[in-house]
Amino acid sequence: MNPAASTDQVPAVRLRSVTRSYGRDGSTVKALDDVSLTIRRGTFTAVMGPSGSGKSTLLHCVAGLDRPTGGRVLLGDTDLTGLSEARLTRLRRGRIGFVFQAFNLLPSLTAAQNVALPLRLAGRRPRKAEVLHALDQVGLRGRAGHRPGELSGGQQQRVAIARALVTRPEVLFGDEPTGALDSTAGRVVLGLLRAMTDEGRTVIMVTHDPVAASFADRVVFLADGRIRDELDAPTAERVAARMAAGAAPASPTAPSALSASPAVVPC
Ligand SMILES: Nc1ncnc2c1ncn2[C@@H]1O[C@H](COP(=O)(O)OP(=O)(O)OP(=O)(O)O)[C@@H](O)[C@H]1O
Ligand SMILES: [Mg+2]
Repeated sequence: MNPAASTDQVPAVRLRSVTRSYGRDGSTVKALDDVSLTIRRGTFTAVMGPSGSGKSTLLHCVAGLDRPTGGRVLLGDTDLTGLSEARLTRLRRGRIGFVFQAFNLLPSLTAAQNVALPLRLAGRRPRKAEVLHALDQVGLRGRAGHRPGELSGGQQQRVAIARALVTRPEVLFGDEPTGALDSTAGRVVLGLLRAMTDEGRTVIMVTHDPVAASFADRVVFLADGRIRDELDAPTAERVAARMAAGAAPASPTAPSALSASPAVVPC
């Protein structure tokens, strides 16, 4: 029996009535409005929605980069509510990986040195083998000594993924990780993210692209800070159709797609 089976029962991420408001009374923006969501371990979730719908805020709250105004966020068994900044920083360094649209590599460092950075930040002396292993996972072991300027955009994003993986995080977050890539390089990156879940890692990615979302196990659609719909086993066609429906004016007689969807996971 798999010794990890009992911990597999604990979801990777749980949000309980999470609200994030910005501003003061009079001009308050509810970036997240009573969001509840459970994400199982070893799954790939895409988060979609119009600009300003709260996607990045959701990621930042789950990753401990931002604090909800109300509700609770749990990473595995750890309740992030009330954790000190120091503990949140430790948790981010040890248990979370982040990949952004802009690759955010340091131009003067080699790929290997960029990948080693999170270990150094955590106060560890990086072992060459673990850095090369991370680069191996993204197919770039042979480019360890190259600087970002000597790599293509897709290769740079793969280095950024290796950097996110080197600490062996439980959850890998991507905020439009393929947004700056052409479709071929984007597919390579998405295939890598997909492969991470085979090793039991959980991947949560914001995207605007139905093809990117089709690599996920499940798509969560946000609008105005609330979860409006979900799709399991998405295809690019179904995601695009859902986006088109979401953009259309609401019909008072149409049944809610959310209530009709068996994919919704109650929290
Ligand atoms: N630091 C902040 N101060 C004030 N308002 C903010 C702040 N961060 C986000 N918001 C507001 O919260 C809402 C959600 O923002 P968020 O960045 O989560 O949207 P998004 O779905 O990621 O959009 P995009 O697709 O454009 O990246 C927006 O109305 C935004 O203006
Ligand atoms: Mg965003």
